[in-house]
Amino acid sequence: MGAWFSHLIWGDLDAINPVSGLSKRDIYKVQKSWALVYADPLGNGTELLKRFFRAYPKSLEFFKMIKHVPESEYGSNIQFKAHVLNLMSSLNQAVTNLNQPEVVVVMMNKLGESHRRRKIQESNFQDLKGVIVNMFIEVLKLDEATLGSWGKTVEFWYKHIFETLSKNEMTS
Ligand code: HEM
Repeated sequence: MGAWFSHLIWGDLDAINPVSGLSKRDIYKVQKSWALVYADPLGNGTELLKRFFRAYPKSLEFFKMIKHVPESEYGSNIQFKAHVLNLMSSLNQAVTNLNQPEVVVVMMNKLGESHRRRKIQESNFQDLKGVIVNMFIEVLKLDEATLGSWGKTVEFWYKHIFETLSKNEMTS
């Protein structure tokens, strides 16, 4: 398809949305690579959390259901599976709705609130981000441009998670 034709159909693929900071091209790259991950939400989500707990064992303290369970038994822990699927479907919602970023802002604000109640901090989210990015590089073999689009996407999500995560209890 010629460039002029795609411009006619899709508009400017590189125009930046002021709410998300993402272009249509960024969104396309993120959604396309995410589809590979979300093809196996339980398998990839379990792998992600295993990597996270190996890299940051202290974060296990937040997860009562597996705090004392060996890694080899995570797969048979129903509560752990439920959490993996909750995490993955929440990420899926955040990815599939990037074209309506105002909705994602509300979702992320709610996520920040629910995690504030569990005393999770910005640093825990930053740790998880590092693990996600490294796993994507390794498993998906992402090119630089797609990685850049992912970086901007997570930055957008985190901005709105942190708005409510660190809000003082007294002002909420
Ligand atoms: C982008 C990153 C994250 C997403 C999308 C996410 C998503 C979710 C969702 C959807 C739930 C269940 C519903 C709710 O309570 O809100 C949940 C629960 C939870 N999350 Fe997260 N989360 C993220 C990061 C983290 C981090 C960094 C930690 C701590 C290190 C964490 C710890 C927990 C805990 C302890 C629960 C409760 C688990 C349970 O008892 O079943 N989350 N998360």
